[in-house]
Amino acid sequence: MTGSEKSKVIILGIETSCDETSAAVLLNGTDLRSHVISSQILTHQKYGGVVPEIASREHSLHFQPVVQQALEEAKVTFGDLSAIAVTYGPGLVGSLLVGVSGAKAMAYAAGIPLIGINHLEAHVYANFLQHKDLQFPLLALLVSGGHTHLILFEAHGRYKVLGYTRDDAAGEALDKVARTLGLGYPGGPQIQRVAHEGNAQAFKFPRAMLEPDSLDFSFSGMKSAVLNTLNSARMRGETLNVPDIAASFQQAVVDVLVRKTLMAIKQTGVKTLLLAGGVAANSLLRETLDQSLTKRGVRLVYPSPIFCTDNGAMIASAGYYHYLEGDFAPWTLNAVPGLGLV
Ligand code: KG4
Ligand code: ZN
Repeated sequence: MTGSEKSKVIILGIETSCDETSAAVLLNGTDLRSHVISSQILTHQKYGGVVPEIASREHSLHFQPVVQQALEEAKVTFGDLSAIAVTYGPGLVGSLLVGVSGAKAMAYAAGIPLIGINHLEAHVYANFLQHKDLQFPLLALLVSGGHTHLILFEAHGRYKVLGYTRDDAAGEALDKVARTLGLGYPGGPQIQRVAHEGNAQAFKFPRAMLEPDSLDFSFSGMKSAVLNTLNSARMRGETLNVPDIAASFQQAVVDVLVRKTLMAIKQTGVKTLLLAGGVAANSLLRETLDQSLTKRGVRLVYPSPIFCTDNGAMIASAGYYHYLEGDFAPWTLNAVPGLGLV
């Protein structure tokens, strides 16, 4: 750390809400000095999904080494940090608690502020890491394993949820269909991989659009349609083509996400769309949105794939803007597993 950097804002961001233990050091909001992610995917893969008890134990094991490595790679010590930002919800309670209690202890010992971060908000803030020129108002499509939201951002920290899923999240539906197809966990990337060899028109799965003006989503019925198709075929003794099913279901999910996003753009008149969350790494979704938005003169912004899935850099990014507002958490900060967006 050089002398001139001492006056700058340096945030340590920590993420432990699900199955990634991650820490990042971010200088002045966009200069990422280090980013360490310890993924538990291989541990949970044999169970077909995240096992909460195992996840929290893994976080306990990896928390300290991950933080240590992030500080070392950034060449900073606790004394250089301006604040520590940590996810306090939503997520698995045992996983969240590891990050929250660790961050609290470190911030208290270092005598620096603690910042509590909403994981959903942070997914959107992954976009601010690589795009310095974003102008409000901004529309965000947040598509992750647990959430599907359309959010209107009027300013930093000031947002309105325009629509959300009434049942399954998009990523959850992809994961469940992938599991039934025997493709493994996490399902989204597997569906994308297998879909390359399939025909997206082979199966006509439904597109749930709900009421005419609604910006809400519903993926549960769409997922059930795939499972019913598979079960009926099995009962008839037929084997269906897995790549065709994967491609057709991926297309159906993307069609709904794109159509609802276009409706939200029409309703709000916003000129920039931020894509966020694990499903934002999906190439069909990116390409389809890109084509549709270019035609309408709307700019599409999305993070690199590594910043789409859970990571500490997005927590540090959101933390930076909270820091500028002086929005610090009390030492009583607790994990809030069901935290939503207000
Ligand atoms: O944001 P995230 O890492 O965790 C949550 O906060 O939920 O999102 C994980 C979700 C999983 O459902 C996973 O299957 C999905 O993101 N995902 C993808 C892709 N990469 C991850 N879905 C579709 N295509 C991808 N390339
Ligand atoms: Zn997430």
